[in-house]
Amino acid sequence: MITSHKKLLLIGAGGYAKSVIDSLPHGQYDICGFIDKYKNKKLPMHLGHPILGVSLDEIDDLYQYCYFICIGNNEDRKYYYDFLKRNKCKLINVVDPTAVVSSNTKIGEGVFIGKMVIVNSDVIVEDNAILNTRSLVEHGCRIRKHVNLSTNAVINGDVFVEEGAFIGSCSVVNGQIRVGQWSTIGAGAVVVKDVNEYTTVVGVPAKPIVRRMLDGTDIYCG
Ligand SMILES: CC(C)(COP(=O)(O)OP(=O)(O)OC[C@H]1O[C@@H](n2cnc3c(N)ncnc32)[C@H](O)[C@@H]1OP(=O)(O)O)[C@@H](O)C(=O)NCCC(=O)NCCS
Repeated sequence: MITSHKKLLLIGAGGYAKSVIDSLPHGQYDICGFIDKYKNKKLPMHLGHPILGVSLDEIDDLYQYCYFICIGNNEDRKYYYDFLKRNKCKLINVVDPTAVVSSNTKIGEGVFIGKMVIVNSDVIVEDNAILNTRSLVEHGCRIRKHVNLSTNAVINGDVFVEEGAFIGSCSVVNGQIRVGQWSTIGAGAVVVKDVNEYTTVVGVPAKPIVRRMLDGTDIYCG
């Protein structure tokens, strides 16, 4: 029997790419290679697949592929997402078969849902978000574009995680909280009140340690 696999190009060849490849549905995609800015010309293969270039400008026909962005950093992932959307390229979702995702979840494009993730009822996961290994998203949550939910993080009910927020490993966000855009929650934090945008919070209970201003400077708190 002849099956036609979709040609897939992965952007980013670091550790996160290993998880993505491991979670791809068997037999659905042909991984044609990677784009990675750290391309080492002496080692043109990575995980058994070629590194085709350092940038998407090196790809002849963008439309021969579908894409997945394997970059954990939210700003860098957004950069490639914006490029692919501008060029009307197709982004796939990767949902590990061990994840338990409510059938009423609305999932955007370019989303990763890793091993043993749980997504409960009435959740929206917007484009280019990462729900990493064993994270838990409770009922009614909104996970906006370019969010990264790290391993084992717990987001309780009706939480709004705004665009580009980074939620560290093993952190807990209590119910009905708003996590501001491009904020950072440190590993192991317990978040008991809203987090301001562009602010890093750590600890139990979580407290701000630094806030990034519009001009890029950091203001240290406390
Ligand atoms: C919060 C975080 C982003 C801060 O990183 P940073 O800006 O480089 O900050 P620093 O390491 O300089 O730490 C600044 C201060 O915060 C403290 N701190 C840093 N991370 C902390 C954490 N998770 N919990 C408690 N305190 C923390 C440091 O001890 C330091 O305190 P001090 O000034 O009294 O010495 C980072 O430590 C973190 O937790 N990242 C998440 C890692 C993660 O979960 N990765 C997921 C991979 S899937």
